[in-house]
Amino acid sequence: MSRDNGRIDRTMRLAALALVAGVGVFATAGLTRPPDDVPAPAATVAADFDYYRQNIEPMFARPRGYPNAGGSPACVMCHSWQTGLRFALADMTETPDGWMWTAGQSQANYDVVTKLVNASNPASSRLLTKPLAQQAGGEGHSGGSYWESTSDPEYQVVLQWIEMLPAEYFTPSPEPELDFEFYRTCVQDMIQSPRYGQLSCSVCHAGGSIGFAPYPANGTSWTEQEARRGFEVVKRLIVPGNPIQSRWLLKPLHLDGGGSYTHNGPRRWLSRDDPEWQMLAAWVRGERTGSDCSM
Ligand code: HEC
Ligand code: HEC
Repeated sequence: MSRDNGRIDRTMRLAALALVAGVGVFATAGLTRPPDDVPAPAATVAADFDYYRQNIEPMFARPRGYPNAGGSPACVMCHSWQTGLRFALADMTETPDGWMWTAGQSQANYDVVTKLVNASNPASSRLLTKPLAQQAGGEGHSGGSYWESTSDPEYQVVLQWIEMLPAEYFTPSPEPELDFEFYRTCVQDMIQSPRYGQLSCSVCHAGGSIGFAPYPANGTSWTEQEARRGFEVVKRLIVPGNPIQSRWLLKPLHLDGGGSYTHNGPRRWLSRDDPEWQMLAAWVRGERTGSDCSM
């Protein structure tokens, strides 16, 4: 009972915040009333889902300025199934009232989005750390930064929604920590030695937001500090513990072997059976090793 009261309180507070952020009900992307084609989800999460659908989801369809690209893409422009990211939203449905997510699609989106939150430690949620500027504590995001600080009203709405989610359902299992020594002994060699006459990763990834392969200043090998910098970039392109969701292992993998649909660079591995791919997968799973890179 007291929990319900608490929930209503929080919901009102959140609704007020959402108003401030201008992310009110279906207003932002030409969304109107959702079609009633799908029964409501289980009662336990119904309130959270409804709140999500009204106040969080429209943010993903809202066109916004993006500093390094023309136009003003919405999150959904990049975060569709085609890109193979975990944050993959359903394609919107055209209806007489405009483009929208049906209730069923919203439910699918909800399942995706709630895997990017951590209700036990809300501020650590990837849904928050990706769009947040790095100087404000964000983790870096190829898609650009959208919130200059944690006091951005949108950030606040998302944060408080996550705080409202029951921790027992929305806490991800802990991720393994990636071993820097393993990276230093085995992984960086992959980055620096092109195969089959292909271009080296450094030709295209020496700098910028996906600059994991800087040219060594001394011309031959990375200093500890240069390696660290590359390591930090690579870290955000992988999902610790989960090689097959890790972009860094999918972009250079051949499409037939389960790789990404697109990469404007080479495909270095034909399949996941490639020993080098296996070595990288072991590293992503959090294994620690020093000397044997041929595992
Ligand atoms: C211009 C394309 C683009 C746009 C627009 C964009 N993103 Fe991204 N996003 C990416 C790419 C590429 C990645 C994967 C690389 C990375 O994590 O930086 C990513 C990763 C993410 C991740 C991590 C997903 C995972 O699998 O762990 C989240 C969360 C995220 N973005 C949220 C957002 C939100 C919220 C918005 C809108 C405010 C947004 N993005 C807009 C391109 C984009
Ligand atoms: C000829 C240029 C070129 C080379 C060489 C190249 N890439 Fe790329 N790569 C790109 C471009 C352009 C993009 C951005 C567009 C895209 O995703 O395809 C990209 C994107 C990526 C991404 C996704 C980054 C993100 O933000 O999600 C990863 C991971 C990646 N490359 C890995 C590699 C690896 C590993 C190598 C070396 C084996 C490599 N690339 C070599 C051009 C290149």
